[in-house]
Amino acid sequence: MIIRNIFSRRYSRKIFVWVVCVVLTVGMLSGCEKKAPESNEIKIGVCCYDQYDTFLSQLIKCFEKCVEDGVNVEYVYASQSQITQNEQVEKLIAKGVDVLCVNLVDRTAPNTIIELAKKADVPIIFFNRELVEEDITQWPKLYYIGSDAFESGRMQGELAANMIRRESSKADKNGDGRIQYVVLEGEAGHQDAIVRTEYSVNTLIDEGVEVDKVGYAIANWNRAQAQTKMAQLIERNGDGIELVLANNDDMALGAVDAYNSAKISADERPLIFGIDGTDVGLEAVVNKTIMGTIYNDKEGQARAMYDLAMALAKGESVSSLNLEDGRYIRTHYEKVDAANVLQYIHK
Ligand code: GAL
Repeated sequence: MIIRNIFSRRYSRKIFVWVVCVVLTVGMLSGCEKKAPESNEIKIGVCCYDQYDTFLSQLIKCFEKCVEDGVNVEYVYASQSQITQNEQVEKLIAKGVDVLCVNLVDRTAPNTIIELAKKADVPIIFFNRELVEEDITQWPKLYYIGSDAFESGRMQGELAANMIRRESSKADKNGDGRIQYVVLEGEAGHQDAIVRTEYSVNTLIDEGVEVDKVGYAIANWNRAQAQTKMAQLIERNGDGIELVLANNDDMALGAVDAYNSAKISADERPLIFGIDGTDVGLEAVVNKTIMGTIYNDKEGQARAMYDLAMALAKGESVSSLNLEDGRYIRTHYEKVDAANVLQYIHK
């Protein structure tokens, strides 16, 4: 009897241990299934082409403001090297990001990054530097967020044409009935630079302004480079420049710096226009050192990027985000001059 009792106690303990093992194993296995991560587990990797770009720094600040508690975002900057960015993407994927936001260094060279993401099944939202259609259509989990560059060029041309018409004697300093202009262009090969220059100048012409191009320089979106290039243009053309069309605000401000260094008075300077509506750009419109800018909706782009990133990370439908062709979100630009600038400050 005693022996039977001991035996059955041992036997039931064995069954108990066996049941516990089965329960634990099933639990562990179901934990391995790819389930939608909870908000507090979401990891987003944000990769930028450079850390010294004014507009992008402000766009990233807007993005940071969108990030909710418990969402983990890692930001990396590639110092303008595509090889560095490829390595950064590889590391972020190894760390287990659920989604990547990539501001390519070379918008024509996204293949390594796309291959890495595809292999790990991590969706990518490209932003600001638009890849060509053949590249973005390589895989359904590739998206793009930016704005329509042609719209900013057209608006800059309209803003300049209006001011030239309104203040023709101030604009046409030599009174020859034509406007001598220079262009400060962003990076060679960047969609925003190419398209903004083309549409800005063509719109001026379409609006009936007769123009002569007296100079052109690439200044890579950069204020210091624009100052150097503008100083050379001033040296070559003297007071023969009546209009400066800059592809962004930082380069417009570089032109202002060059005129300041050359000690040319406000009355003798050309009309200067930028694009972006960065804090410094808007301040320059208030101070009338530049005549206008075109607001590049960084708040809208950051919000769209965050909402899309979260939806993709959670495996939710993205249909409420109204993606164009299932992959693009483009925000609209707005014209800013002295008349409406205050409503854009601290937007
Ligand atoms: C443009 C912006 C520039 C610069 C560039 C970087 O959209 O106007 O200021 O930030 O993107 O790709």
